[in-house]
Amino acid sequence: MGRRKILAGNWKMNKTRSEANEFFDLFLQKLKDHEEGTSMSPHRPEVLFAMPYTLLSTGQTRLGQTDIHVAAQNFHWADSGAYTGEVSALMLLDLGIKYTLIGHSERRQFFGESDESVAKKVRQALKNGLYPIVCVGETLEQREKGVTESVVKNQIQFIYKDLGEMNKEMLEKIVIAYEPVWAIGTGKASSSSDAQAVHHFIRLELSRIVQKDYAEKIRILYGGSASPKNIEELLRCPDIDGGLVGGASLNPDDFSKMVFAAYGHR
Ligand code: PGA
Repeated sequence: MGRRKILAGNWKMNKTRSEANEFFDLFLQKLKDHEEGTSMSPHRPEVLFAMPYTLLSTGQTRLGQTDIHVAAQNFHWADSGAYTGEVSALMLLDLGIKYTLIGHSERRQFFGESDESVAKKVRQALKNGLYPIVCVGETLEQREKGVTESVVKNQIQFIYKDLGEMNKEMLEKIVIAYEPVWAIGTGKASSSSDAQAVHHFIRLELSRIVQKDYAEKIRILYGGSASPKNIEELLRCPDIDGGLVGGASLNPDDFSKMVFAAYGHR
């Protein structure tokens, strides 16, 4: 059975409520026009938007009647407590949010997110029934040193580090996003063949850490300057199951083109 593609927008720290509403007016209209103009594809991608906390309710209201999901960009690994400025898994669930990014490289780079905290958050997400989209990827320096595989391998091992007692059904909620740090927001995406090579490596690692049939089920997204120009080629790669899209997801025209590119891909 093929893996359903995912197109995930990552809005980072962008948009007010009125800007988000404007985006959805245009985006949802484009989706509607597209679906009316084409026969319904049996392989529609899963679409989601990772939004700032202040927009989660707006997103839920605007997307509530669709099958598009709203995701958080981060949350805290504790149930509750003295963690000023943080938001818990229960608070997200209370809003009806079921997806969250974890360990985005900007969290790692600017906010001290470590492999250890990523491991705690993945565990907390799964324990509470949240679907985590966990980000991994090497820096430019690491790529140039030729250590991409060992860096990514280490990050993947941490994701599964505290999940020993969880069954495969729980583990299947995990989505991995491979985002080479040097490609994020730079306009310099990885070539599809380089990206495919790392995705394949990640899948092999997953089959080693968990099991082969598990590795075959897990969706691995590519992120880093994905755009309407390169998404087709990326989606054609056998181990690339979709995209985590920053800049291009802020524009309804660009992002809807990327979603349409995923229609029909298995
Ligand atoms: P970008 O960001 O598409 O703007 O490169 C991707 C991401 O950071 O998730």
